[in-house]
Amino acid sequence: MFTQQQENIQNNEYFIKKSSLPQKSTVSKGKYSLQDFQIMRTLGTGSFGRVHLVKSIHNNRFYAIKVLKKFKIVKMKQIEHTCDERRMLKLVQHPFLIRMWGTFQDSRNLFLVMDYIEGGELFSLLRKSHRFPNPVAKFYAAEVILAIEYLHVHNIIYRDLKPENILLDKYGHIKITDFGFAKEVENVTSTLCGTPDYLAPEIIQSKPYNKSVDWWSLGILIYEMLAGYTPFYDTTPMKTYEKILIGRVNYPEFFVSEVIDLLNRLITNDLSRRLGNLQNGADDIKSHPWFHEVVWEKLVNKDIETPYEPPIQGGTGDSSLFDFYPEEQQLDYGIQCEDPYEHFFVDF
Ligand SMILES: Nc1ncnc2c1ncn2[C@@H]1O[C@H](COP(=O)(O)OP(=O)(O)O)[C@@H](O)[C@H]1O
Ligand SMILES: [Mg+2]
Repeated sequence: MFTQQQENIQNNEYFIKKSSLPQKSTVSKGKYSLQDFQIMRTLGTGSFGRVHLVKSIHNNRFYAIKVLKKFKIVKMKQIEHTCDERRMLKLVQHPFLIRMWGTFQDSRNLFLVMDYIEGGELFSLLRKSHRFPNPVAKFYAAEVILAIEYLHVHNIIYRDLKPENILLDKYGHIKITDFGFAKEVENVTSTLCGTPDYLAPEIIQSKPYNKSVDWWSLGILIYEMLAGYTPFYDTTPMKTYEKILIGRVNYPEFFVSEVIDLLNRLITNDLSRRLGNLQNGADDIKSHPWFHEVVWEKLVNKDIETPYEPPIQGGTGDSSLFDFYPEEQQLDYGIQCEDPYEHFFVDF
């Protein structure tokens, strides 16, 4: 109870003083090493490496460590994105964003130490539930909005909003993880990145784009939570892109009229109409009728009952809500050898 209260006070601060990112960070490079942790099971895998559940040998607490293979990052031309991921994670502090404690590296890999978020991916809960009732989808959407609003206020575009990157803590509040595509951007950028079903049309068309691509993705996320599938789903990314560019959305008959109105204004290629991209920014979304009963100040303080409490024993390293992944027979962590990529990752 005490820790929860303590956290709330801090959270309130984030909500009021949202003028700039904390200038000083407690996160430093090389503060940890592999010897500080016992590596346990894999929680998720990605294109550059995997995320492990680990236990600190000092305080016996559980953390998640994202391991990225240097050669894969270089091969897939993701050096800049990876350095951005570290830089963004180091700076952000928000109740609905993952907290990173530090980073280190060996000859072959980069390691990012984060809090372990025990309740699993929103993705798993959604697939198990097929779809969420209107109030449940609204709750998760509202927490996501506060997190994205915070990032945008600090000129960070997130660019990879989707249920796989939204985790649930032991109380059922969200934590957005995966800053692999997050970027500090003053105005517009043009890199093609993200996940096919969630991509805004302007990204597919290689046009310069701005923060409002995250509000498009929010629209896709809300649609997927309510319907159980994404609006432009198809069998190949190419077909999905074609549908996105045509931009016709079919709404199941059980969608309430308020959410259809909201989604029409998020999933639109007309940037002069897209909510979040207009003069009042995120406030236009927060004051939309679909969210009329949401008390935003209470929400940021986690002072609102969550719709679902993950059935896990908090603090014990329970990982029963994560899917299983085949483990690597031989981990190449901690090996001392030649490192041809050293100069790319001096920040870690
Ligand atoms: N801090 C964390 N706590 C628990 N699980 C996590 C954490 N970070 C990531 N994961 C799990 O690992 C998966 C992959 O991590 P992510 O950062 O999204 O990597 P990628 O860039 O490969 O998608 C996530 O979808 C999630 O299931
Ligand atoms: Mg991810």
